[in-house]
Amino acid sequence: MSKFFPYARQSIDQSDIEAVKESLSQSLITRGEKTLAFEEALAKKVSAKWAVTFTSATTGLYAAFQAADVSSFDRFITTPNSFIATVAAGMRLGAKPLFVDIDRNNGSLDVEALKEHVSMPMSRGRIVLAPVHFAGIAHDMAAIDKSLKGPDYVIIEDAAHAIGSNYPDGTPVGSCTHSHMTVFSFHAIKTITAAEGGCVTTNDEGYYKRLLQIRNSGIVRSASDPWYYEVKEITGNYHMTEMQAALGLSQLNRLDSFAQKRRQIVSWYRNRLKNVRFFDESYDARSCYHLMCVQIDFEALGKSRTEFMKELHEAGVGSQYHYIPLYRHPAVAKVSGDIAHNYPEMEGYYKQALSLPLYYDLTEEDVEYICGVINKALTK
Ligand SMILES: Cc1ncc(COP(=O)(O)O)c(C=O)c1O
Repeated sequence: MSKFFPYARQSIDQSDIEAVKESLSQSLITRGEKTLAFEEALAKKVSAKWAVTFTSATTGLYAAFQAADVSSFDRFITTPNSFIATVAAGMRLGAKPLFVDIDRNNGSLDVEALKEHVSMPMSRGRIVLAPVHFAGIAHDMAAIDKSLKGPDYVIIEDAAHAIGSNYPDGTPVGSCTHSHMTVFSFHAIKTITAAEGGCVTTNDEGYYKRLLQIRNSGIVRSASDPWYYEVKEITGNYHMTEMQAALGLSQLNRLDSFAQKRRQIVSWYRNRLKNVRFFDESYDARSCYHLMCVQIDFEALGKSRTEFMKELHEAGVGSQYHYIPLYRHPAVAKVSGDIAHNYPEMEGYYKQALSLPLYYDLTEEDVEYICGVINKALTK
């Protein structure tokens, strides 16, 4: 085996390397001009008023939930098809997650099923909704926003997968026209990377100021005395470094070409793979895919998913599955109970899910090879 194709990988070019090098010569190597420039460029790119960077999307989500004063009184609604960070943010503040089953055409929460959860009477608190734009396919946030009108609610979009994607009306994910805050991830395998990192976008000045305070250990400085400060709330230190911001900014400049290439790779897969279920093709034009998800009926094939993945791995093709339903993790089940039977779509999806290599540097020949390996594994 000469080459190995992981399911995801960063693309670092000379412009990224130069940008990071340059940041190291600054007098401030954290909390400096690169961070401000990255935030300004991010806000502009996604048409939001403000962007606040964080050490990760995990800390960004936590800060967003804290800024929204989420508590155990709120009805915290989200999808089971996500990474733990989505629910951890609410759970750390005492809110118990209420999961909505998913739509297997896009892997995200089913908006019709969401309406039922929203319409159940409430005696206290608000609805806190955290939709996840799974794999990079953006929800129709205008429709979600409309379905929530009535009860007091907060929407925090988990867009860890979706920088560069658009909503059905063509506006960019992160613009927060139909939500209070949106959170992005810049982890190494995400569409753009700062090695680790995240950000929260918002159009609400109150949330913006609170996010800055939460990122900086809850500190508020005195207007009259530059040495005096007070801690207003218990939070943490969630600043990214200048080197990370420099890398993030350089990668943001490459986002359009990343998005175009990702769409191209998805179309190569669609044309070559037989006997797998893809997400609906109608999403392709407006999505910057983070994951190349397919669904395979392993039971009918007579191979377990693990056997199938091993076969791929031995031929140099990496894969993964996204996600183990959140309610199946012991840390969540402790709060939610044994509820898998309530989620037939999520359970059906989980059995069949597989994520294939998708990253900027893949060539058409690479995808041709990968699909050959997969099509061979699909024959019994
Ligand atoms: C949907 C989702 N939300 C949040 C996160 C957390 O991102 P980070 O690794 O930047 O903390 C991830 C990471 O994989 C994710 O996939």
